[in-house]
Formats: sequence, C-alpha cells, structure tokens
Amino acid sequence: MSISVIQDLQALRETVSAAKARGQRVAFVPTMGNLHAGHFSLIELARQNAGFVVASIFVNPTQFGPNEDFDRYPRTPDADVQGLSAAGCDAVWMPDVATMYPMGVERAVQMRVPVITETLDGAHRPGHFDGVATVVCRLFNQVQPDVAIFGRKDYQQLAVIRAMVRDLAMPIEIIGAPTRREDSGLALSSRNQYLSAEQRLTAPLIRQTLQAMEQGLRAGESVESVQDNAVKCLQQAGFDVDYAVVRQPDLTEVASVAAGQSVVALIAARLGSTRLIDNSEFTR
Ligand code: PAF
Repeated sequence: MSISVIQDLQALRETVSAAKARGQRVAFVPTMGNLHAGHFSLIELARQNAGFVVASIFVNPTQFGPNEDFDRYPRTPDADVQGLSAAGCDAVWMPDVATMYPMGVERAVQMRVPVITETLDGAHRPGHFDGVATVVCRLFNQVQPDVAIFGRKDYQQLAVIRAMVRDLAMPIEIIGAPTRREDSGLALSSRNQYLSAEQRLTAPLIRQTLQAMEQGLRAGESVESVQDNAVKCLQQAGFDVDYAVVRQPDLTEVASVAAGQSVVALIAARLGSTRLIDNSEFTR
C-alpha cells in the first residue's frame, strides 16, 4: 500500500479511525523533517510495535529561540516522504502552521512541564521545551496514537514528554529508541550537515568524551573531576561547551556515583554555530 500524505485534520482523523476500526494499534513518530537513518530506525521500531504507523513532519516555530536556526532548518519534504515510505510508514501528517496553531502562535494555548525543563538544555534554550511540549501535545491530540516513539539522543526531551504524558494521564505508551551513530561514533542529527569537513573530524570527540566520563567514574574518579576533565578536553578541541555533566536518570544532580548506581552523562557543545548534543546512560 502506498503512503498517504495528509495535510487536512479531518482526513488524518478518518485515516487513523479506519486503522483503529481494523483493529490496528497506531504508532506515531513526530519529526521536523530532513530525515536521516536515525529517523528511519524510529519508523522501524514503530512498525514492530503497531499495525499502522503515522509520522509527522512539522518544523515547529515555537521551539526555536530568536537566535536559533528556524529559518535555515532544512526542509526536504519530497525526500522525507520517499524515505518514510521505504521505511514502512503508512501515513505522513504534514500540517501547516495555521492548522497546528489555529489561533496563531501568539494566542496559542501552551504547555509547560516544570522543574525538568529548567536545567541543561532548558536553561541554555529558554522556552525550548515549552515549545516542544506544546507541539507534541497538539500532535498527540491530532493523531491520537496508542504508542509514540522518541529518540534517546534527545534525553531531556524524552523525559519532558514522559512527564507530560504521565501528569496528564494521556493514554499513550512512550518508547525511547536507541541513538543511531556514524562509524565515527557521531550521533546522527539533521544538524550534522551544517558542520564543515574539519568540524566533522572533531565532532566525534563528543562521543569519546562521554565514554571517557563513564570510564573515569568506573575507575572511581569524582563526578566533579570527570565533568571538569570533559569540559577541558572539549574546549581544547575547539568546542564551546554548554554543559558536560553526570546526572541521575531523572536529571537531578548527583554528588557521587556508587557501584551499581545508574546515571547518565550528557554533553551539549557547539562547533562554530552548530550545537550538538549526545548522552550515555550507564550503571557504574
Ligand atoms: O525531536 C524533534 O524532532 C522535535 O523536537 C519534535 C519532537 C518533532 C517536536 O517538534
């Protein structure tokens, strides 16, 4: 069956209702387009969890700050639809801004997930997670999926969505998908294409630094020294570091890590104007 590209909310509702009436579980993969192998692996995971898979493509203006890359964010809808179809997606929801925000962006009802959005990327990108939670809540209302898939590369985003779904008792299972990487270890991201050839050689150091943070903690180094070393190593290589930290899985701070304790190391750093993030979850 060929993929349906849907731009009208009524048509989306009918398509999803028909799948549910056939007894199919509906999985949803929200995206901002410019898709790569990482996104397609989310579709494959969705396929394993449902009989009908919907993806969305919407570059959401409310999650970009005033000096961020909303205008230059690459829009490649034709290639995206082709790739989604090849990956086994059944329908693509491609709303325009007026459909997503019928009262206009300024008057839009907004979501805010407190506390977890106030640290790390939330602190460095004020309002970003309010925009993400707002659009994901709208997408959930529009698509009404049984299950939704989010990449674990965006660790804090996944935590924010889980908190929203739990607090609002949304009847949607949330699955976190493993991060896909280049052979160099660099996490796949639409933003990688902004990197120059030279920056591309430096970028895999993020993953190597996360591994060094894990090894340091396993060897009994303190959290503080592991974090300091990570920042120094990235700065020496030319990164502008937003953070390189070890946190509890719920992103609260951790003073020390005991054997058997689960934590997550997270890095956000810029090469030139390109901001890259990655993380590593492990048990010491
Ligand atoms: O991760 C993304 O691509 C976006 O933040 C999302 C979840 C599609 C919301 O716009």
